[in-house]
Amino acid sequence: MHIHKLEKIWLTFGITMLVAFLVILGISTFAFGLEPPSHSHTIDPEKVRETAPFDNPGLRMVGDGEYEAVMTAYAFGYDSGDHPLTVPAGSTVEFVVTTPDVVHGFQIPGTNVNMMIVPGEVSHIKHMFNEPGEYLILCNEYCGGGHEFMHTTIVVE
Ligand code: CUA
Repeated sequence: MHIHKLEKIWLTFGITMLVAFLVILGISTFAFGLEPPSHSHTIDPEKVRETAPFDNPGLRMVGDGEYEAVMTAYAFGYDSGDHPLTVPAGSTVEFVVTTPDVVHGFQIPGTNVNMMIVPGEVSHIKHMFNEPGEYLILCNEYCGGGHEFMHTTIVVE
């Protein structure tokens, strides 16, 4: 009888711990779910230029003071369409970036924008530009002979 009681206590303890573990796991999964990872989906790296939205790169307004900048990183530059990237101060810009060739970087010094751009992986990052100025966007992953020259700019007016 005594042993059975002990076993029951341990069983109850074990189940309680298991439930607590699952709850914690659930909460952390939910918490991570709220913050989407920078790599949200993948596309065929051979078909970047035929795949939306990279078939039409550039800046578009998606809301009040909110923009999306679709860009293709390549050796050795960034394709952001025909128009320069210019937004009013106070705008939030979501950069949506991929590459058809090799791993590149996407960094805006002085901000928290810093992504690794992997062929076929679509990377996203949002940033609010409060201070007017010309912001450098540069590659910080060695990608070949032209790596040091790989950069572009976004202008905040
Ligand atoms: Cu692209 Cu370094």
